[in-house]
Parts: sequence; structure tokens; C-alpha cells
Amino acid sequence: MIISANERRRVARNRLPRWLFDYIDGGAGAETTLRRNTAALDRIGFVPFALRGAAEPSLKARVLGLDMDFPVALAPVGMAGLVSPVGEIAAARAAVGAGSAMCVSSFSLAGIEQIAASVDPARLMFQLYVFRDRAVTQDMLCRVWAAGIRTLVVTVDTPITPMRERDARNGFRSATGVSPRLAGQMLVRPRWLYGALRRSDRLIGNLVPYGMGTNLFAQAAAISRAMDPGLDWDDMARLRAQWKGRLVIKGVLHPQDTARAAALGVDGVVLSNHGGRQLDGAISAIEALPASLDAAQGRVEVCVDGGFRSGGDIIKALALGASAVWIGRPWVYGLATAGGQGVADVLASLRDGMRSTMTLLGAADLATLRASRAQCLQTESIQTGEGGAVVPFPRMAEATA
Ligand SMILES: Cc1cc2nc3c(=O)[nH]c(=O)nc-3n(C[C@H](O)[C@H](O)[C@H](O)COP(=O)(O)O)c2cc1C
Repeated sequence: MIISANERRRVARNRLPRWLFDYIDGGAGAETTLRRNTAALDRIGFVPFALRGAAEPSLKARVLGLDMDFPVALAPVGMAGLVSPVGEIAAARAAVGAGSAMCVSSFSLAGIEQIAASVDPARLMFQLYVFRDRAVTQDMLCRVWAAGIRTLVVTVDTPITPMRERDARNGFRSATGVSPRLAGQMLVRPRWLYGALRRSDRLIGNLVPYGMGTNLFAQAAAISRAMDPGLDWDDMARLRAQWKGRLVIKGVLHPQDTARAAALGVDGVVLSNHGGRQLDGAISAIEALPASLDAAQGRVEVCVDGGFRSGGDIIKALALGASAVWIGRPWVYGLATAGGQGVADVLASLRDGMRSTMTLLGAADLATLRASRAQCLQTESIQTGEGGAVVPFPRMAEATA
């Protein structure tokens, strides 16, 4: 069923225990960046071209070596499978069935081997967190390669887990078992609880071999301590040398980091502030995009995520030159409300919204859209760039030097 992103979020809130909804929905600190992600997109307006005959636009794109029906992928979301008994496997099937792709989190409930065996693994990416214990990281890399996945996405914006007020209020991540408060919130969601009790995978499956806790709450509390806060560019260079497939760095915003990633020979970056869950006050990916594209100089593919809730939002990023847009919370709310079909509905609604936006803009395909980036403008302060193009956000040319 096609419903708006807001409505789906509302239904998910009514289905999930409070701590689980808050874990998904919330952000770091005062949630300034969380709000900024959507606000920055809202500040961009379209200037459509008339009479261009773009009645049936094509959204086809090749992203990170993958042919996609439309360049939207499911972003990695830790513990996403918890929202529905059908879990991440159903989400992966929905993504692949829609001609999209999925990046599986290190912290998925379903093990990466199970997910990869359920779909064509070529359409999956694996998101890696680098652990202090490098033996764990090595083992994960071997498992991912053996499962047939060739695109590795290393997340670099999580040296620590900052204060997330909603989690703190609920006692999630500090409890190492089911506290009375968490239990109470589950009891008032009997439908979710029934599904949760029936399932066999009540742990973060990918971590089971490494003994990071015997229940999900203990695992959730352990993982932020297990990640290596000292990860640096030397580590990335070593990973680049070791991983024979495609390598993507997720969680950069500064154009110098994109330039450095390009120099290292990685295949792509995902501009991201982790859905407003890490550095509160950080700018949004859509704001970072123009300068990062300048820095990339076509050497790496530049994807974005954070706050994309409609097809129109996605077209704004593509018009600015992003290779693809990743979505996080929307697909998880789809999974929470209607399982795999819910994820399929979310993707279909984004794809349809992208198509209608293209038609109304007068862009027959993505190449045409990108060639006329003047279709996007910042309504608050309109700046005319070179060649008459309208640039939505100030470039940080000096920062890329
Ligand atoms: C509940 C939740 C868990 C997440 N877990 C991960 C993760 O395990 N790895 C990762 O790289 N990003 C993770 N992210 C960030 C997403 O990949 C993505 O950057 C973000 O959700 C995009 O913003 P959006 O939710 O507004 O679409 C998580 C996001 C949420 C909401």
C-alpha cells in the first residue's frame, strides 16, 4: 500500500515498543542535525523546464558497478530486523526485487551468510565497522567475501557513540538485559511482542561468533565499546590494499576527505551524517554535495543519505550530481508496518515520485537531469554560478585546495 513517509512513520510508532521506535527515529544531542537533513532538502526548490516531452522518464543508472532500475539503495541499519519477524532477509528480497540494492549492516540480526543466500549477492553491499579486535574484522571480511559480496562499505563516522537522549531516557544500550522499563514498553505492543517471541534470531547474528553478549541488549551495549575509535587513513589504505572488490567509505562530509578517499583509490563515498545520529550540529549530505563533487573530480562515485523522504528529494540530489541516494529510516518503517511488502511499497513510492518529478521538470533521463542542474535552486539565497547555473549551496572551493 502506498502511503506517505510521515504516515508510515506514524503507523510504525504505534506498532513498535517505545525504546525500539526511539532507537530508530532518534538522533544525537538536541537532534539539530536530524532536523537539518530534511530542512536542507526543503530549502531547495525546482525551476522546471516546460515543453520538453518527458512523459516516460528513465531512471536507470549504473552505480558502483551495478545496474539499477533507479539509483536508490537501502542504507545499513543496525538491528533493523528487530522490527519484524521477517527481518533483513525480507528487506533484501524487496530491494533486489525492485531493481534496487541493499547495504547490510555489520549489526544485522540475520547473519550475512543467510541474507546473501536469499538473493543475488551481487546486489548486496556489506557495511563494515572496524573493531578494536582486528581478528574480528578480518573474520568478517572473509565471511563477506565467501558469501559472494564484492562491495565493502566502511563506516567512518562512529569513533564513539554520542549521547542519544531518547535511548538514554528509555535505558536502551545501558541495560544488559530486559529491564522492567523495557519490558513494560514491550508488553503494550502485544502484536510486536508475539512476533518477537516466535522468532529464533533474537541476537545480532553477525556478532554471534565473537561472543559479544548472550542477549540483544547486552550486544547493543557492547558494540560501541568494541569499535575502534582510532581508525585512521592508514587503516583505510591497508583495507584498500586487502579488499579486492569495490571499496566505499561511508560517513564523510568534508570535501578534503572525499579528495583523500579518491587519492586512495576507493570506488565511492557516501556523504552522510549517519542520519543525524553522530555529530549533532553537522551539516547535511545534500549541503556537502557540491563541494565534495568538486573534490572528487569524477574519480569516485559520490552517494548521499540523510532525510530523503520523497522521490522529489531524491531527484534534487541526483540533479546536483549524486550517483545515488541511500535511505535509512523509511525502509525500516516499511518493514515494521508491512514486512517485505512494506519495503517494496516504500521503494515503489520513491520510484514513482522520482518519475513524476522528472516528468514535471522536463527531464527525460538522469543524464539530462544532471546536465541541467539549474533546475535546482536554493530559494533562500539564489546564487548564479558559472554559465548561468544556479547553485543551491555555497561551494567550499578553498576547502578542497
Ligand atoms: C536505527 C539506525 C541504525 C543505523 N545503523 C547503522 C549501521 O549499523 N551502520 C551504518 O553505517 N549506518 C547506520 N545507520 C545510518 C544509516 O545507514 C543512514 O546513514 C541514515 O539512516 C540515513 O538517514 P535517514 O534515516 O534519514 O534516511 C543507522 C541509522 C539508523 C536510523
